[in-house]
Amino acid sequence: MYLIQSNKMADNKFEFSYSAFNDSSELNEADARLLDEARKVTEDAYAPYSNFHVGAIAILENGQKVAGTNQENASYPVGICAERVLLGSAATLFPNVAIKTIAISYNSKEVKSDHPISPCGMCRQALLEYETRTEKPIRIILSGQEGKVFIINTVKYLLPFAFTKAN
Ligand code: THU
Repeated sequence: MYLIQSNKMADNKFEFSYSAFNDSSELNEADARLLDEARKVTEDAYAPYSNFHVGAIAILENGQKVAGTNQENASYPVGICAERVLLGSAATLFPNVAIKTIAISYNSKEVKSDHPISPCGMCRQALLEYETRTEKPIRIILSGQEGKVFIINTVKYLLPFAFTKAN
């Protein structure tokens, strides 16, 4: 039998705040436009296997916009999420330019697109690397084609206890 000793120092808590809106009419003009573009760009997704079309669009520090959509493959694991397509394009087209905000939306014939979805774990890791690399927080706007909108002010909130280059 093992005796597990606990020398507990403190009860720590990880909390974060985010903004929630009933719909995009409550957003400022720039955010509403960016979200509109994310909703629209879902049309460019290649998702014949999941039928889940994700669109992401970023506005960069230099004012340029870069989009990404999910690109699936007959060999399923080869598929790549919209967020990481976007990051690869942004880093290539505009190296070392920070991303200010990314809007992410989705569309599907099978489920209603009326609530926000948030990036998968792998994309959170990739987004955090980008944020760390450019030393500027990335704001994330999440929403379906309609309905509630969430805004998160930094990717750090989405990945507590992250593994980063500091490790
Ligand atoms: N997907 C994204 O593109 N982004 C996300 O944040 C979640 C999931 C894609 C991956 C796959 O092509 C499809 O959505 C269903 O999982």
